[in-house]
Amino acid sequence: MQADTQIDALEQELARLEGAIARECAEIASVLARPLPTDSARITAGQRRITGLAREVMAMLPRFDRVEGELASEARARAAAQGGAALLPQRWYALRARTHRLRGDMNRWHEVGALLAQQAPPSASPLYVMRDALPEALITQAEVGDALLNSLHRLINPEEQAQAAHAHGCHADIGLAQSTFLEHAHAAYRLYLAQRRRAPARFLDVGCGAGLKVATAIEFFPRADGLEYDPGYARTAQSLFAAMGLAQCRVIEGDAMAFDGYDDYDVVYFYRPMRDMDAMKALEARIAAGVRPGTILIAAYGGFAARHADLGCAHVAGNLFVAHASTEEAAQLRCDAEYIGPFVRRRETALTSVWEPILAASHANGYGLRRATPIRV
Ligand SMILES: C[S@@+](CC[C@H](N)C(=O)[O-])C[C@H]1O[C@@H](n2cnc3c(N)ncnc32)[C@H](O)[C@@H]1O
Repeated sequence: MQADTQIDALEQELARLEGAIARECAEIASVLARPLPTDSARITAGQRRITGLAREVMAMLPRFDRVEGELASEARARAAAQGGAALLPQRWYALRARTHRLRGDMNRWHEVGALLAQQAPPSASPLYVMRDALPEALITQAEVGDALLNSLHRLINPEEQAQAAHAHGCHADIGLAQSTFLEHAHAAYRLYLAQRRRAPARFLDVGCGAGLKVATAIEFFPRADGLEYDPGYARTAQSLFAAMGLAQCRVIEGDAMAFDGYDDYDVVYFYRPMRDMDAMKALEARIAAGVRPGTILIAAYGGFAARHADLGCAHVAGNLFVAHASTEEAAQLRCDAEYIGPFVRRRETALTSVWEPILAASHANGYGLRRATPIRV
């Protein structure tokens, strides 16, 4: 067969396989993007078809190698007769690059298939796991982590509380236990995904102290700000973000009672900013009135549970509430969020692959490939 005819045939075969795989990926991604829980029958059928196509890709490779061998010996013969380098037809190099890319993608199909197996059939898991239900070893590890973070907190924020902040009724910068915050932030992240909002989530810590919770929240939400009354604490948080290179984190120095930007945020966290109970109640009312409907509130203390309904908020789970929502809406949101998986950050990959639509849709459902690269801040 003529070289051009052979290349034509391989190009057509490759285009057919690339197109068929891309269509299957788009179909699976569209099923994953539908309301939860996921329709596993359609996913499984798509997986079977992709497995068949992956076999066809592998079966095409020996043919590809054979043609390349023939083209190479023709090129050598030509070079020997006419001089010059033994070059293959220009089209071949482009075809080879595409073929190698597709083969590389197919080599990762088992990983992508395992990711889909986590979602089909779908399974629900509670937003919070009770501490008592955790293995003893994990409880101990959380306690050790909390103790370490407490020490680091003291190191980062040696500032005395400002007189004016004390006089205003502010609590000093006493941090919520890190492991408890992680539970809340993780559950809030799953709720946010279940809400199916398109914009990247913005997080606010009302009374951020030294800013450690803001720096933690950035692992879950792409933007995170802290609002802080005490100027010394605000400076400390600012220096922390600068030292960590966290351009996505901001400190807003000011009084949470007078703040008028609550409607900029999707997740609002507050952990006992004010000492005085009446001032705390007034702040809760201010936050509830200022946020948009559907905003997720993390009220990480007991009292809010008794007052949320009067403020138009509905309880979802643990210390999570949703603003301007009914009890039924909150219950539905909790059910949806329980089908969201536990993954938070996407694995960084140098090149996009044919699997991209599946990876993106899985990520939006809280599932992802295990991190191959370390977290970078
Ligand atoms: C108990 S600490 C919580 C620190 C941090 N959010 C955490 O969870 O670890 C309360 C913080 O809220 C700040 N705060 C209290 N009242 C405030 C107000 N009205 N406006 C802004 N910040 C306030 C205090 O200065 C203090 O840093």
